[in-house]
Order: sequence, then C-alpha cells, then structure tokens
Amino acid sequence: MRAALEVARAGVDVALLSKVYPLRSHSVAAQGGINAALGDDDSWEKHAYDTVKGSDYLGDQDAIEAMCHEAPDDIIELEHMGTVFDRLADGRIAQRPFGGAGFPRTCYVADITGQALLHVLHEQTLRLNVRTYDEWFVTSLVVDGGRCRGAVAINMRTGEMEALLAKAVVLAAGGFGRIYTPTSNSLISTGDGHALAYRAGVPLMDMEFVQFHPTTLKESGVLITEGARGEGGYLLNSEGERFMARYAPNKMELAARDVVSRAEQTEIDEGRGVDGCVLLDLRHLGEKKINERLFQIRELALDLTNTDFVAAPVPVRPGMHYAMGGVKTDANGATPTEGLFGCGECACVSVHGANRLGGNSLLETITFGRRAGKAAAAYAATQPAPSLPVAAAQPDAEAIDELLARPSNGERMADLRAEMGTAMNKGVGIFRTREGIADTLAMIRELKQRRQQVPVRNKGKVFNYELLSLIELGFMIDLAEVITLGALEREESRGAHSRRDFPERDDATWMKHTLAYQTPEGPRLEYAPVTKTRWEPENRIY
Ligand code: SIN
Repeated sequence: MRAALEVARAGVDVALLSKVYPLRSHSVAAQGGINAALGDDDSWEKHAYDTVKGSDYLGDQDAIEAMCHEAPDDIIELEHMGTVFDRLADGRIAQRPFGGAGFPRTCYVADITGQALLHVLHEQTLRLNVRTYDEWFVTSLVVDGGRCRGAVAINMRTGEMEALLAKAVVLAAGGFGRIYTPTSNSLISTGDGHALAYRAGVPLMDMEFVQFHPTTLKESGVLITEGARGEGGYLLNSEGERFMARYAPNKMELAARDVVSRAEQTEIDEGRGVDGCVLLDLRHLGEKKINERLFQIRELALDLTNTDFVAAPVPVRPGMHYAMGGVKTDANGATPTEGLFGCGECACVSVHGANRLGGNSLLETITFGRRAGKAAAAYAATQPAPSLPVAAAQPDAEAIDELLARPSNGERMADLRAEMGTAMNKGVGIFRTREGIADTLAMIRELKQRRQQVPVRNKGKVFNYELLSLIELGFMIDLAEVITLGALEREESRGAHSRRDFPERDDATWMKHTLAYQTPEGPRLEYAPVTKTRWEPENRIY
C-alpha cells in the first residue's frame, strides 16, 4: 500500500492486487513497533550501526544507511496521515527499547502497531482512489523480452484467469512463514512473491537466514511481542533464573533475536525448560501497564493458553517468524529484471543480513515501499503501454485444468504441508548440522515429486481454496529447496544461521550474499559481495 500511494502521488495509474482484502495482510500481526532515531541522544548513524551489528555484518551498509536516515521523516509522515502513536506526557512520540538497540527507538501503538499502520495506509489508498483487485491470486508474472509486463491471476470469486498488464510491477507479498510448522505467520504467508520472481528467473538472496522469534506460544506459534521484554519483561528457566545473564550480560532479554532464541533453546535442550518452553514473566509490570501497552498479548495468552500475564508467567518458545532473504533488489526496489520491483519482507535489499532487529520490518515496508513506488512510477513513465501477449494466461490456465482433472483419490495435501513444516523446523531451524540439513533437503525433494500426484477433490471454480493451497504448496516447496540448499552450502555460523558443525563466523570465506537461480535440476547458487561503507566486522557481543 505504501508503494501504491507513492505511484498514485506521482500521477501514474496504479492498481493493488491482493489474494486477501488488504486489511488482512500479515503486517496486521506486527505488534511491537517501528524503529526510527527520534530521541535527543539517538541518531540515524547509531540506528544504522545497531542494524549492521544485528545483521552480523551481512547487511548492505549503503541500504541500511538509507533506511535509518529516512526513518524519522517516514514516521512523521505516518503520524500526519493519522497514526495514533503512543505519546509521552510532553506530546512527543513515545519509544520503547527493543532487542539489539542501543536506544529506545521503537515507536508503537500499544501492541497493535502493524494493525494501526495498515488502517492508516488503507485510508490513504481509498483517498487517492487506488484501484484494488481484492481476492485475486497471482499464479505467474508476465515477462516479455526480458521485461516484466504484468501478472497472470485468478479472480477467486469467479475462478476466471486473466493476464493483467502493466508497465511495471511491484511485488510486496510478505513472507513465507508457512513453510515451517509452527510459525507466527498467518495462513497467507506462503512466499508467493518470492516464488513468482524465482520462477521468472530473478535470483533469491540469502534465503538460508530464517528468523526465530524468541517469544511465541507453544501450540499455535502465535506471536508475543518483543515489546513485552521492551517494557521490562523477564525470561525465566525452570529454576526461576533470568538465564540471559549467562548469554548476553549487557543486554539480557533485549539482546538480538537470534541470540535470545539460541539461549532459550539451549536452556530447553539442557533440561532447564518448562514443558518445552521457557517462561515470560510480566507480573512485576503491573496490571495497569499491561492493560495500557500490552493488552493484545494479554488477551492472546488468555485465549490460547488460559494464562493471564497479570497473574502468572506464560510459557513461550522460539518460533519461526521472519524471512531475512528474498527477491534480490537494489535500494530503490529494482530487481535484476527490468520492470519488476520488490519491497517489504518478500524483498532482500539487504538491510537485515543474517538477522533482523525487531521494529526494522515495519520500517522496511514503509521506507522501501515508498522508494520502490517512486522508482516504479518513474520507470513506468518511460515505457509504452504493453501490448497484450495474446496467450499470456494460457499456460497457467492449462496447468490448473490439469490439477482439477486429477483423480480424486490419493495423498492429502494437508499431510504434505505438515511433513514439510516439521522437516524444515527440524533440519533448518535454530541449530543446524550438515546431516540434519541434508535429510531435510532429501525430504523436500521427495515432497516435490509426491505433490505431482496430489488430487484436488473440490472441482469447483469459485473460491476453490483447495486448488489455491496446492498452488501455494508448489511455491513453498520450491522455496524450501532454496533455503535448505543455501543452509547446506554455508559452512559457518552467522546470525540466524547457526551450524553446530561450523560454530564460528568465517568472514574470510563467507562474508558474501547467496544468490539462488531456478534451473530444471533445482536451485543453482552463486555468491555476491556485501557492500561496506563504514563499519568493519567486529565480534558480536550483547
Ligand atoms: C514484535 O512485536 O515482536 C514483532 C515485530 C517485529 O517482528 O518487528
């Protein structure tokens, strides 16, 4: 939506196409806040340094500098659009501490920040009459003569398939959390944007770096915001110890996410967990503060675990949360394919490198959404109207006919999805080994074959979610193969990629981005340099 606004502001005709109504986009689940250096003693350079360190020196420093420099203006603009950020007594925007940050620089709306931003941006798209295609499911990109010229999509209400042509396309399709089970991501986060680009020949970058958020609920994987620790929450083991003192004595519970997640998993693995979890204790914050700033997570924990943060610690554990990797773009959202742009979680600029800092994700959607929208509008202004490639939708229509024509007996798609999720969690989770990754890769390749026979029992056209889920499964299996192969090849530990068999960071060999290209035999990997401006790699201690 932020990209679309920028295109509309440039006076260029723009449409938003989404498989869900825009207010249901997964940003709605981003609870804790959005970063910008607004404080008197803070600066964008300090924000940039924290982000570079958080990325374990894999983030591109020029892109990080751009994001952190522009963040304050983006926040003020969001405020002017109507975002009701929480405030200090003197009227300035309040900021809470977040993990890996040297200053309290996370602006927030209680624990519903993403929801608040989505509503404000949606209002703005309505105000500027941005046309929307809600509940259209994209099956492929139209690439003609090396340029992206639109997308082929199913109108989910009718089941009809159409090629929508455009002078430029911006992918803003979010993450791929559903490749893992459990995940904090909603059902729609199936990596569609990543897979569409990959299948169109665009490289995916740094896909092996998958973030595990330290506080998710056990069964459901639902997020409990980092804001809970930002407001002063403690993490305790079965002995009642604030165990982070042993892993990150300076930052304690507010070390970077990869560090806290590894610490929790170590406690659990070494027998100091509580039923496969650790405990998040907020009791000392008091009911008033919890109700004012963390009311949503109080409600979620009550509904889903029958535990009230006011009265008792809540069991939490690390859970898959975010994709650092994505479609390779430059700092203006341009991919290597002309006419195709990307922003947000589906893109890899790269500002997060090997580990994202909390609060930088909403920021990325806004700053690089704006930048990608601006660049796409400028590019579109130089292009002639695309002529209709007559049969653009034909191959996808035939593929769907083939799926619907399959006999109705055979394996259940839900079983394949569950097997994939469990295997990914096991083999390419918080701690990894060559053997575990290789087993998962073999399993993913087997699932790829088995998916070829999975039936679609619902033969209808209208809102055929079974059919769409099977297409999503195809996207996810492609991406799972890329994640797993990248993890297998990267023989070091950096950020969220932690190899027990290669426990050290190896800058001499591995200070480089992974690029994955699709081939008929599976992903082909190449490597590209990291952009450094002013920060030399240091030991990463919190
Ligand atoms: C959270 O509130 O912890 C999630 C927000 C984010 O991932 O940045």
